Amino acid sequence: MSGFVVWFTGLSGAGKSTLGALLAAELRTRGVHVEVLDGDEVRTHLSKGLGFSREDRDTNVRRIGFVAKLVARSGACAITGAISPFRAIRDEQRAQIERFVEVYCSASIDALADRDPKGLYRKALAGEIKGFTGIDDPYEPPASPEVTVYTDRESKEESLARIVARLEELGYVPALKRSVGRVRAHLRPPLGRPHGGELRIRATPSAPRGQLAEYLRSKPVIDLDAEAEIDVALFATGALSPLRGFFGEKDFLRVAREMRLENGLAWPMPITLPVSEEVAGGLRIGAIATLRARDGRTVAMIEVNDVYRPPTSLASPLGEEDPDLARALTRGPVLVGGEVSVFEPNTGPSVHGVGTTRRMFMARGLTTVAGIRARSLPRRAEEHLAKVALEITGGLWVQAIEALEGDGEPEAASLSMRLRSHEVLVERYFPAERVVLSAGLPARRGGGRQAVLDAIVCQNHGCSHAILVGSTYAGGVSGAERAFRVYAPGELGVVPLCFEDAFHSTRTNSMATSRSAPGDASTWITLTEAEILAMIARGEAPPPEVLRPEVFEVLAAGPRSQP
Ligand code: ADX
Repeated sequence: MSGFVVWFTGLSGAGKSTLGALLAAELRTRGVHVEVLDGDEVRTHLSKGLGFSREDRDTNVRRIGFVAKLVARSGACAITGAISPFRAIRDEQRAQIERFVEVYCSASIDALADRDPKGLYRKALAGEIKGFTGIDDPYEPPASPEVTVYTDRESKEESLARIVARLEELGYVPALKRSVGRVRAHLRPPLGRPHGGELRIRATPSAPRGQLAEYLRSKPVIDLDAEAEIDVALFATGALSPLRGFFGEKDFLRVAREMRLENGLAWPMPITLPVSEEVAGGLRIGAIATLRARDGRTVAMIEVNDVYRPPTSLASPLGEEDPDLARALTRGPVLVGGEVSVFEPNTGPSVHGVGTTRRMFMARGLTTVAGIRARSLPRRAEEHLAKVALEITGGLWVQAIEALEGDGEPEAASLSMRLRSHEVLVERYFPAERVVLSAGLPARRGGGRQAVLDAIVCQNHGCSHAILVGSTYAGGVSGAERAFRVYAPGELGVVPLCFEDAFHSTRTNSMATSRSAPGDASTWITLTEAEILAMIARGEAPPPEVLRPEVFEVLAAGPRSQP
C-alpha cells in the first residue's frame, strides 16, 4: 500500500492533536505505519525559534509538508496537526503530495474559548497575546476538504469514524468489519453496563459509494418484511446489543428452548430474517447479500452465515402459553442468519441511539434511569406508573413507540401525536429535567419474552430499570414475571418493574392498580387507547381521571393520520 498524508487543519483547541492521535492508533491496528507530526511538538524541534508572523507560520507549515511528503513517499502515513491557517500554503502542500487528505476540524470560537484548556483564548481576548488565530489573526477554512468534522458538536468517536470511513472510501486504508459496532467504553460507567457487556452499533458511518456500491449491486437482494426492517434499524441504533445480526440456527434453537444464546447469554427472543425458498436458493454461506427496505432502498448488508428452516414446534421454558415462540416458529419459510451492517438507518430525527440516550442521561447527571417503551398514549395510568418509578430512580426515559403495523391494532394515534402528547405531559406534570423523551421504532407486541426484550433494550440505552405495563403484554404481568424468572437474579443488568395497568379509584380518589386499590372494578375509572380515540372522534372529551386535558387537546387538534 502506498503512503498518504492526513492533514488536519483548524483553530487551536479544535481537536487536531486528539483526533490525530486517535487516528494514528486506529490505523496502526490496521497494520498501517504511521508518523505523527503534531503542531505543538513540531514547534519544539523542526520549527524551533519560529514565531507566529505570517512568514513564520508559512515556513512552519512548509517544513511540516516537506517531512510529511517524505513519510508518505516511504509508504507510510503522515498525520499532521498544525493550525495551518492559510489556504494557499495548504494547497501548495496538496499540490506536491500525491495522496493528500485534508481534515478540517470545525468548531465555533465560542466553544473553543469556553473549553480553552491552555488558557490561550482568555489571554488573547484580554489582549495579552497578539495575533492569535481566530481572534485577531486570520484563519481561512478549506474550500473543499476531504472531511469536515464538527468537534464542538460530535463526539471524538463520531469524528474519528467519519475520517476512517473516508480513508477507506478513498482506498487508502483497508476496510475492517470492526469499524462498525466498536465498544464505546466511555459510554459505560457510571451508567449501567450494556447487555452482554458491549454496545454494538451496527451502523456504518456512511453509505457505500464508488467501488463498494458497485460491488454490492452484484449481490443477491433480500427483501425485508416490516418486522425485519425494524430489527435492522434496531441493530443500527445499538438497541439489540450485543447482537451483531440475525440469528443462525443454533442461537434460534437455544433461545427458543432455553431463552439463552448459544454462548449462554440471556436472550429471550429469536431475531430472525425470513426469506422465500427461491431467495434462499440463491444464497451461499460466507457470501454477502444486500437488504432492501419496503420502500426499495438498499439499507444494509448481511454476511450470510446460516440458512435454515425453523422447526414447526418446540417446547418452551414458559410452558404452553408462549405467544412469542409461536410467532417465531411461523417466520420463514427459510431463515437467514448473519452479521448485519446498516448504511442507511431508517430512523427518524427523535429516534435516539444507545449512545445518544446515554450521553443525554450523563449530561443531566442521571445515573439511575427507569425506561418505558410506551406503546400507549400517555394516559393518567402511564403517568402514574412512571412516577412510581421516579420515586426510586434519578431519571425517566420515555420512548414513544408505535405498534407494528398489521398487528390487528385498532386505529392508533400517529407517532408525532404520541410524541407531542408525551411532551405536553412532561412539560406540565413531570420534573422535566429528570425526563428524557425519545421516539422509538415500531415494536412487536408480544408476551413475556417481549417484556424481557423491552427491558434489555432499555438497558442498552443506559437504563437501570425498565417499566413494564402488564396490559401491553399477552399474558399480562404474570406472563412477564414468569419470563424474567427464567434468569438468575443479576443475570440481566436491568431491574424489571412489572406493573398492573393503573386506573383512577373512586374509593380512594387517586390513581392505583388492582394490587393497591380497595374495591372491585366497578370503582375503577379507566379507558383503553382505542376507547379514548373513539370518544375523541365522536367529539367527546375523555374524563380527566383518565386523560390530562392538555393531552386531550393535542389529540383533538392533530390529524389522526399525520406521519
Ligand atoms: S501554525 O499557524 O504555524 O500552523 P501551529 O499549529 O504550529 O500554528 O501552532 C499553534 C499553537 O501555538 C497553538 O495551539 C497555541 O498553543 C500556540 N500559539 C501561541 N501563539 C499563538 C498565536 N498567536 N496564534 C496561534 N497559536 C498560537
